[in-house]
Amino acid sequence: MIHYKSNAEVELIRQSCQLANDSIAYVAAMIKPGISTMELNDKADEFIRDHGGVPNFLNYHEYPYACCISVNDAVVHGFPTNDPLKEGDILSIDCGALKKGFHGDTAYTFALGEISAEVKQLLRVTKDALYKGIEKAVVGNRVGDISFAVQDYTERRFGYGVVRELVGHGLGKDLHEDPQVPNYGKRGKGNKLKDGLVIAIEPMINLGGKEVYNDKDGWTVRTADGKPAAHYEHTVCVRKNKADVLSSFDSIEAAEKANPNLCSDY
Ligand code: MF3
Ligand code: CO
Ligand code: CO
Repeated sequence: MIHYKSNAEVELIRQSCQLANDSIAYVAAMIKPGISTMELNDKADEFIRDHGGVPNFLNYHEYPYACCISVNDAVVHGFPTNDPLKEGDILSIDCGALKKGFHGDTAYTFALGEISAEVKQLLRVTKDALYKGIEKAVVGNRVGDISFAVQDYTERRFGYGVVRELVGHGLGKDLHEDPQVPNYGKRGKGNKLKDGLVIAIEPMINLGGKEVYNDKDGWTVRTADGKPAAHYEHTVCVRKNKADVLSSFDSIEAAEKANPNLCSDY
């Protein structure tokens, strides 16, 4: 069942999203060779709690951490580990917060130091695909218009692999609500988008093939061919003419630019 949100509820979701974004920005400033994703997870967890939120991934279907941090061939749902990050790694940090009963969900992919031109393009195209999807999140369109926009740009235009097993979603009082928002599909198909529908749009895009498998930890999703993958996610509210983007990459991108260990020219 789809729950359309009141304006007051949308504002609460915006606050939760911004806390999640700010926690990603907070840890983005700490990314450097030698730090582990577990340290980043623990700092994000602490930041969310210090700002009156609850890390909503923790214990969700028994997920054991505050964040999903997916390195290189890990696409999404990466378990934080104690392994040190190194120059040339890419890492997606997916982070959520629950505040006043409403969930926020957002993700961003970082690159540590110098990366190849082909991986830079993967990051740029995946982020751009997110905004191409958001452009379609307006009253009167259908979910398939968002899906098609993401798939068409990443798969047809750039030949990337679009993950099929995982999808975007509605959210609000629950982290995952109806409808599903796949990153592949047909224009004009699927649920109609109505005013007040809040959805997470989250392209999960592989440099190589679309096939993925589950790591033996039971959660981390990895590319079958071992090539890198990118993941960017915004929570948005469907409105007339233009979606209202409730999460924001502003603080994250500022932290990315300010951290000399991170690549920001992609
Ligand atoms: N944040 C993920 C998403 O974008 C879901 C994470 S669920 C967890 O939908 F259990 F892995 F945390
Ligand atoms: Co997420
Ligand atoms: Co999500």
